[in-house]
Amino acid sequence: MNLKDKIRVISDFPEPGIRFKDITTLLQDGAAFRSAIDQMAAFARQQNADLIAGPEARGFVLAAPVAYSMGVGFIPIRKSGKLPGETVSVSYQLEYGKDKLEIHRDAIQPGQRVVIADDLLATGGTVSSTIKLVEELGGIVAGLAFMIELTYLSGREKLKNYEVFSLVQY
Ligand code: PRP
Repeated sequence: MNLKDKIRVISDFPEPGIRFKDITTLLQDGAAFRSAIDQMAAFARQQNADLIAGPEARGFVLAAPVAYSMGVGFIPIRKSGKLPGETVSVSYQLEYGKDKLEIHRDAIQPGQRVVIADDLLATGGTVSSTIKLVEELGGIVAGLAFMIELTYLSGREKLKNYEVFSLVQY
């Protein structure tokens, strides 16, 4: 199955000049969704992940089923003020905008192997911040799995010390 064919590209969203990669058309196709999760889970299995972490909101949609399919735990990475327990946080720059990401301080035990899963690798800002949070808790970042990689933004350059997997490239 060609997953790229299932992703819809919408021009000038959320700002003029941006060609937004809309994964909702892939998610609504059961066979395509399953194929994407199966391939991301196969990568995470190869990396011997103990946990899968995903940044909200679209990261949740992929990271949670990858974790479920492997029978390992899911760790939510959230925007500021959403997690109720004690948190560790980091500020980050987005492709358009700026925000803060947080993780629960007790979400990861030192030495646990964590694969981070998200829908999109663009500038790499979100995943770099997520890596910082995982490593601050003593977790080992065992790999990074994305549905889409925008190679023209060179996010991978920031991630040279990590195993990067992506399903579809633009
Ligand atoms: C999008 C996307 C990735 C991130 C990629 O999330 O889901 O997490 O941007 O961009 P980057 O590599 O330049 O950091 P967004 O913050 O738009 O949040 P959403 O999932 O809640 O829509």
